[in-house]
Amino acid sequence: MSAEPIEDRCRSEHVRRDAWWRDAVVYQVYLRSFADGNGDGVGDFAGLRARLPYLAELGVNAVWVTPHYVSGGADGGYDVIDYTAVDPDYGTVEDVRALVEDAHALGLRILLDIVPNHTSDQHEWFRRALADPDSPEAARYHFMPASEEPPNNWQSMFGGPAWSRTPDGRWYLHLFTPQQPDLNWDNPEVADDFDRTLRFWFDLGVDGFRVDVAYGLFKDPAYRDNPGIYSPTLFGHGPEQAMTTNQPRVHQIWRRWRAVCNEYFDEKMLVGEVSLADLEQVGLYARPGELHHAFQFRLLKSDWDAEAFAETITEALDAFSAVGAPAPWVLGNHDKARQATRYGSERRARAAALLMLALPGSAYLYAGEELGLPEATVPDAARRDPIFFRSGGKRAGRDGCRIPMPWTADAPAAGFSAAGSAEPWLPLPADWSGYAVDRQLDDPSSTLTMYQQAILLRDLYPALGSGQATVTREGGVVRVDLAAHHGDPEPITCWINMGTETVTVPVHRLLMASAPDLGGPVGGLLMLPPDTAVWTRV
Ligand code: GLC
Repeated sequence: MSAEPIEDRCRSEHVRRDAWWRDAVVYQVYLRSFADGNGDGVGDFAGLRARLPYLAELGVNAVWVTPHYVSGGADGGYDVIDYTAVDPDYGTVEDVRALVEDAHALGLRILLDIVPNHTSDQHEWFRRALADPDSPEAARYHFMPASEEPPNNWQSMFGGPAWSRTPDGRWYLHLFTPQQPDLNWDNPEVADDFDRTLRFWFDLGVDGFRVDVAYGLFKDPAYRDNPGIYSPTLFGHGPEQAMTTNQPRVHQIWRRWRAVCNEYFDEKMLVGEVSLADLEQVGLYARPGELHHAFQFRLLKSDWDAEAFAETITEALDAFSAVGAPAPWVLGNHDKARQATRYGSERRARAAALLMLALPGSAYLYAGEELGLPEATVPDAARRDPIFFRSGGKRAGRDGCRIPMPWTADAPAAGFSAAGSAEPWLPLPADWSGYAVDRQLDDPSSTLTMYQQAILLRDLYPALGSGQATVTREGGVVRVDLAAHHGDPEPITCWINMGTETVTVPVHRLLMASAPDLGGPVGGLLMLPPDTAVWTRV
């Protein structure tokens, strides 16, 4: 752990309770799959712009857009060829400017996704590095001399060794696919270049970034073996990956990026992907003067289990409050099977969402979860995710949660593209029309309506989303007592029944329920069936 002094200026800014990002609801758009504006079967900025009113009506505060850069296409855009250019599939830089303007007019902020751990192998730097081992560009990556065996035991997160050979026999490092060579952040030219990228998009009006692999970047300078092998079933990286993750000098970069944010009058924000198992370590990334939010994925990776949920929530709240940062909550994203399938039913996914939206901190929604979408079955021939291919089909990969959004039940391609367009880039399941936005919008019992109402109440009641939480558990029931920071005489309680029996809970007034079929409360008591959550006043 580093012991650098903390600037007072940063501290006061970090703890400002009114900062927009502290309790924001952020909506993640998988750009390729959100809305197709030009009929080529691929989602784009024109499509997203046209759907901004939908997001404003849902009530979210910010939109995080997955990578939009010119890319080699080896990992859903996370292999960037040019950090200041837009992939023509998605539009142009002018489209980003227009998106930001429209979003701001609707009270929405726009976060882009930045990928600093690696570039594409087609990035100009890597091409020069391949051509000339002595070039300055070669010093921006991790090359090792030719040898029989790979330089060490480091493994790619997507399977297989993390080292591949260049045509002239050298080894280069890639913690993801071979098309994603890792940058060498010990070379100051790398950090300088990313400062320019941040300013380029900030100057355009973009409000912040989700930072890919924020726990990575630096590697053990001596390239020693990792003590263990990463398993995707773990809660996150731990000491077994100590040589390739969570190197203490990464925190210098987050202080540097925070300083770039602070150059701007309007408040820019950074949310880092910090896939570490130890929540205290995750919290360190959100210290004053570093990232505004540090994603923890323990909850995302927890099964439908009251004990796991209660423990994770308590530990996360402790870890973030220790550094004065808000906790960001995530139940679904573009890397994880949809929660309706993971938990076993849409009913459970709705209950979990109500719990998440009550918790103090920021809530991240993944496009389509507000529709209750399940994980889709993707025919092997249609699969795109490198995880499927690199694991020889052993890991299904992430295509099933990246299916185009169903907007209109009776339209071709469920309204993702206009009629007469090319087929969507990933096939929509034939039986998804019931999930379409137009079917759910005016249906009081729909999942979409539940999300809308919950976000509205979150705005109305200070105890929701930004208060103080106390978590207790009895058997399969988790109870979260929420009080507003400035003395709310009527605190709110969130109950979630993750068990198998109906329980009785004391309720004065029922604010919100995840299921439409609750009777009561009667005589101050409510019957709470399994797989259900409620917000109540005691
Ligand atoms: C992050 C992204 C994931 C991507 C990987 C490599 O984990 O969320 O989608 O494959 O980084 O950039």
